[in-house]
Amino acid sequence: MCGIVGFCSNKEDGVDASTILLDCLSKLEYRGYDSAGIAVLNDGDLLIRKAKGRLSNLINLVEKQPVEGFVGIGHTRWATHGEPSDINSHPHTDVSNDIAVVHNGIIENHVKLRAWLEKHNVKFRSETDTECIAHLIDFHYNGDLLLAVTEALKRLEGSYAIAVVCKSEPNSIVVARKDCPLIIGRSEKYNLLASDVTPLLEYTREVQYIDDNQIAKITPTSVDIYDVEGSKIDVEITHVDWDMQSAQKNGFEHFMLKEIFEQPYAIEQTFKARVYAGKLDLGDITEAVKKAKRVVIVGCGTAYHAGVIARYAIEHYARIPVEVDVASEFRYRDPIIFEDDLCLVISQSGETADTLQAMRIFKKKGAKIIAITNVVGSTVSRESDYVMYTQAGPEIAVASTKAFTTQLMCVYLLTCALIKDETKAKELMAELETLSTKSQLIIDRQKEIQRFAARQFNKPKVFYFGRQSDFAISLESALKLKEINYTHSEAFAAGELKHGPIALLDEDTLVVATCCNKTLYDKMDSNIKEVKARGAKVLAITYENNKEFDTVADTVFHIPETDAYLSPILSVIVTQLYAYYCSVNRGNDPDHPRNLAKSVTVE
Ligand code: G6P
Repeated sequence: MCGIVGFCSNKEDGVDASTILLDCLSKLEYRGYDSAGIAVLNDGDLLIRKAKGRLSNLINLVEKQPVEGFVGIGHTRWATHGEPSDINSHPHTDVSNDIAVVHNGIIENHVKLRAWLEKHNVKFRSETDTECIAHLIDFHYNGDLLLAVTEALKRLEGSYAIAVVCKSEPNSIVVARKDCPLIIGRSEKYNLLASDVTPLLEYTREVQYIDDNQIAKITPTSVDIYDVEGSKIDVEITHVDWDMQSAQKNGFEHFMLKEIFEQPYAIEQTFKARVYAGKLDLGDITEAVKKAKRVVIVGCGTAYHAGVIARYAIEHYARIPVEVDVASEFRYRDPIIFEDDLCLVISQSGETADTLQAMRIFKKKGAKIIAITNVVGSTVSRESDYVMYTQAGPEIAVASTKAFTTQLMCVYLLTCALIKDETKAKELMAELETLSTKSQLIIDRQKEIQRFAARQFNKPKVFYFGRQSDFAISLESALKLKEINYTHSEAFAAGELKHGPIALLDEDTLVVATCCNKTLYDKMDSNIKEVKARGAKVLAITYENNKEFDTVADTVFHIPETDAYLSPILSVIVTQLYAYYCSVNRGNDPDHPRNLAKSVTVE
């Protein structure tokens, strides 16, 4: 989704702002976008370049029409109000082109604001909600940009992270946030800003996380942060230890493949972060877990699927009731939450708008919140009571892979803490420790999946089914294929086959049957036969020593054996690789799927 960046340096240091801005924007490409633009201050001038489409279009434009200067802002736009076009791209300016704004978020009262501004003779150039902000700041501008932004914000309803520059204040950028991420990078000779930490890593490791309703004035050598009343506030400088290596492709064709391959390591790191010498150490989470009478889980997309798998595992092993919902439904359904509920918020980015709002409902009801997130300093991590970090490192590909399997490791570790019987918990932990090695064994055989995908990538319909955890992982497997191969893929509980999905089956259908629950092999065997009888092709995923499906399914992929409730962390690797190779065979770009965003920071 939209990303903003900014760079502020002194003329004497001679660092070209446009080069840095374009580099930072390239590191935000993974969030998803359809146009890009920059604004650079240059000796009393404000130079703007914008281009629809890929960032390379903007880079070409800047090569042809350079914008020299030392202070600037940039943007990747994911269209919400108005189609992707040069005009609708950010930065947007006021009528006299003195003030430029980049914005991530949605201004909900933009129709009213537009009408009001038009009455004051403002002529709008774009269809965006953002343009209102530029005109409003201009309306309040009286020689002090910080003050003008502060006043303009009072009229805005909705969500925003903005960065603003003004011709008359050539050495500063003013930024503000409400419900959208914003991070300032600090360095001795320059300061930067971005929507997430990845673009900053090249330039600094010292960052400040701006909170909702905070406004900051950034100059090359200072950052002053204020609340909405104009009082100065201290915001701690945090050191980030993610390395640049993990945000680069390192010889892999795509980030997605690299991230799939990194899973054994990431799973191991997430386990080791909480288990020392065979002992589980969840720190202060342990106490909160002990009191839990019920667990309530929210998340979106892949993170929600981690929640569904958690429900099966926690209810089975710990015998505690679990409720799980997608955050966008949960937040509007008047949910019943008790103070002794343990609330689990799962979010790779820690910035998903619906997930944040669901978390705030938990908070209002007085329940304790554990966040499972990949991003240190993200809003979810800062607003929750406890955090379990997934040790996945930066995940750049839009389709989540290593963040998902490490989320699973976190929920399994949490399950161990919820189990009352110590012996049972130890047994489960011992099995968890084997999962990294087992996942490597699947990756070692990735060529088999690549060959299968080469034959099956063009299927118009792919259905995934299974029972219990195998059904839960089918949801995630279907999502992967949808996301990057644009195939109509659905997941359903195998027992539901006769209640509808069977009507869709024909010779053009591929059915992926995940069969990793031994007690349900017979049921799955019948379901596969029913599917085959309708002409569909079947890929079965089951354990290596199980030959039961060899004669029933068209293809069987065997994975190392584990407990049924833990098997999703392994079986999903097969379907991730299948989706990846299908996408490559089709000529898609798996890292940047059409219409999707990595971080969905608006509703
Ligand atoms: C987007 C991403 C998905 C992700 C979902 C939730 O849809 O494309 O990969 O699962 O958001 O994101 P979160 O950061 O909250 O896990």
